[in-house]
Amino acid sequence: MYSLAVIGSQWGDEGKGKITDYLSSNADYVVRFQGGNNAGHTIWVDGKKTVLHVVPSGVLQENCISIIDHGVVLDPESLVKELEGLKASGLEIDELKLKISGQCNIITSYHKILDGEREEKSSQKIGTTKKGIGPAYEDRTARKGIKCLHLLDKDVLRGRLENLLKEKETLFKNLYQVDYPSIDDECERLYELGQIIKTYICDTFQLLTQGKKEGKKILFEGAQGVLLDVDFGTYPFVTSSNTAYGGIFTGSSNGGKELDEVIGITKAYTTRVGEGPFPTELFDEAGEKMGRVGHEFGATTGRKRRCGWLDLPLLKYATHIGRFTSIALTKVDVLSHMDELKVCYAYEVNGGKVDMAYPGIDLTHAKPLFKEFKPFKRCFDLDNQKLDHELENYISYIEKELRVPVSLVAYGVERKDLFCRKKIMWQ
Ligand code: IMP
Repeated sequence: MYSLAVIGSQWGDEGKGKITDYLSSNADYVVRFQGGNNAGHTIWVDGKKTVLHVVPSGVLQENCISIIDHGVVLDPESLVKELEGLKASGLEIDELKLKISGQCNIITSYHKILDGEREEKSSQKIGTTKKGIGPAYEDRTARKGIKCLHLLDKDVLRGRLENLLKEKETLFKNLYQVDYPSIDDECERLYELGQIIKTYICDTFQLLTQGKKEGKKILFEGAQGVLLDVDFGTYPFVTSSNTAYGGIFTGSSNGGKELDEVIGITKAYTTRVGEGPFPTELFDEAGEKMGRVGHEFGATTGRKRRCGWLDLPLLKYATHIGRFTSIALTKVDVLSHMDELKVCYAYEVNGGKVDMAYPGIDLTHAKPLFKEFKPFKRCFDLDNQKLDHELENYISYIEKELRVPVSLVAYGVERKDLFCRKKIMWQ
C-alpha cells in the first residue's frame, strides 16, 4: 500500500478538489474521512465545472474508487441530490465507483434544525454552514447517533430516532419554538433515502484492508482545513471534526502506522468564511480585489469569504500539526493581479515577537508583521516551462520558512493549470 493525504492548511477553501482530482489519476482509492456536505470541492476540466460536497474528488478519474468512510457525517438527502446533479451533467456514479461505509453517522432533519436555530438565535455565532454537521457529531459522541446501516431496518431506525429526538424535542418546543417533523415522517423519509443509497453501502473496512494487502494506492482527501480542526483549530470557531492528520486514523479504515506523504494544500493568500480571528485580514481595496479576482464566495453556502495576506506563523503551525511532507500552493494567479505583495512572517504579541502561532496565542490581539515582495504579473512561462522569477522568489521564501518543499503550484482553475515544481513520490 502507498498512502498519501491531501489536507487543507488554512481555514478551508484552499483548492483541495483540484489537487485531489489531479493526484487521483494515480490512485486506486480516494477516501473522505471527516466532515460532510459542509465541504465544497470544485474541479474544472475543459471548461466544465463540477462542485462536489460529500462525494470524494476522485470520481472524475476513470479507474479510481471513491469511498465515504465512517468518520464522515452523511446527509443522505444531500447525497442523493448531489448524485442526481452529477448524473444530469453526464457523470453517472454507480456502486462500483462509490462505496459508503455502513458505519457513517447520519445527519437527520433534527440536526439541521438545531444547527440553523443556534446560528439564528444564539448570541455567540460560529458562522456554520447550517448543514447539521456539529449536532450530528455531538450525537455520535453522545452515542445517540444513527448509523448508515440503521437506515435499512425501519424498526431499528425508529428506535434510534426516538432516542435521538427525546432531548431535542424540549429545545425545539421551549427554547427555539420551532416546528420539526414527527418521528413517523422522519423515519419514513430516511428509510426511503436508505433504499436509494443502499447499493453503495458496504464494509469499507474489509475493502481497504484487502486493498492494503494488495499494495493499492490510497489517497485520503481532507475537507475544511487544519485551522478548523475541533482540537487544533481556532476553537470555538472551528468545525466539529478532526480535519488534521489524526482524523485520518480515526475516521477511516486505514490500518497503517504512518502515511507515506501528506500534501498541505495552501492558498497563496488567506481566506476565511464564518466568524473567528484572522490576523492578516484586509479591510481595504486590496482585500476587495483579492475576493473579486479569486471569486471568493463559498461553493456550499455562497457566502463572501474574508481575504488577507499569507500568514506564515499559522502555516508553520499547520505544517507541524498536519505533518506535511510538501505543500501545494494554489491560486497564485490571483496574486498576479495585485499591485503589492506581502507575507506575514511574525506577530507582535504582548510586546514580544512570535513567528509560529500556537494555541496559547490570542490571535485577536496578534499584530501581523509583513515582509514585502516585488509583485509579479505573469505566473508561468509556457515556452520555457518555468515559473515567473518574482513568483519563484515568493515561493522560495515560503519554502525556507516552512522547511518543507513546495511541490505543486496551481496557477489557474483548470486541471491542466498546475506545475509540478518538485517531484512527489506518489507520481
Ligand atoms: P460547520 O462545519 O458547518 O459546523 O461550520 C463551522 C465553521 O467551519 C464555520 O466557520 C464554517 O464557515 C467553516 N466551514 C465548514 N466547512 C467549510 C469549508 O468547506 N470551507 C470553509 N469553511 C468551512
